[in-house]
Amino acid sequence: MQFHILTLFPEMVENGLQTSILGRAIQKGLIGIHAVNIRDYTQDKHNKVDDYPYGGGAGMLMQAQPVYDAWKAVAKPAEGKKPVRVLFMSPQGKTFSQEMARELAQEEELIFLCGHYEGIDERVIEEIVTDPVSIGDYVLTGGELPAMVMIDAISRMVPGVLKNEDSGVTESFQENLLEYPQYTRPEVWEGKKVPDILLSGDHARIDKWRLEKSEERTKSLRPDLYEKYDLPGRALEYLLKDKMLHMDMIEDIRRGKADILAVREDGVLTKDRSGGAYRITAKTKDAGERLLSLTDPTGAVYV
Ligand code: ADE
Repeated sequence: MQFHILTLFPEMVENGLQTSILGRAIQKGLIGIHAVNIRDYTQDKHNKVDDYPYGGGAGMLMQAQPVYDAWKAVAKPAEGKKPVRVLFMSPQGKTFSQEMARELAQEEELIFLCGHYEGIDERVIEEIVTDPVSIGDYVLTGGELPAMVMIDAISRMVPGVLKNEDSGVTESFQENLLEYPQYTRPEVWEGKKVPDILLSGDHARIDKWRLEKSEERTKSLRPDLYEKYDLPGRALEYLLKDKMLHMDMIEDIRRGKADILAVREDGVLTKDRSGGAYRITAKTKDAGERLLSLTDPTGAVYV
């Protein structure tokens, strides 16, 4: 997979991605890092790439021309191939996630556009950017660190980059579950012992223990993720406690006729796939109303 990074600081990106796992992936030819210095494309005789913003305001803006020409130098769509996606690193973009990393890892090539100073002339952003992406709700001084963060997360989803082919897909955030706790030698450290079960050699019980720990952790540390975890399993667990009352909801889920929108300790919310009607079951009126607040104002059906 080829990454092109349009930046004013190519050495920052090149140096930052040469070590450890990514360094090895580059050497093996699994990924390629091609940093393009936007300054090399300026037509200004003093090598300038920025100027004052029209209308006034603080700081300088990167000019459209050098950015556009740097992009043209790498974005040569091959015959019959779709244009290469251009990811613009910006706090205004969609928030980067594991799911996005997995999706972007399917591409053969990606272009990262890193801004600096107060930003980039809007016209070139409109012209070339396909995906504005943010790495979180904070403002950095430039797009290089976000690009490096994303390249790291995307690269580990590329087959062969991780030694254990499994580990890119079976860890934190896969299936909306955090990873279980891990231990290595010694067996006792500072009086703290490794849980006995991990020394038992009983792999079925170890897997069960790990899943339980993952669920516990996710529930307490990231309740937002836990809400999305194993919705069918958790919905059925709730509904089967009163099979008669929930017959319709159970059938709809089993036949794939309803989407499960929320499963809580005190209720379940589903939405019919064809008609769009909601069904709510809840232990209390308050719990029902909390679930109702997640729906559109039309089509709610109480059970
Ligand atoms: N550039 C500056 N801040 C950023 C952020 N949070 N994400 C992506 N690009 C940025």
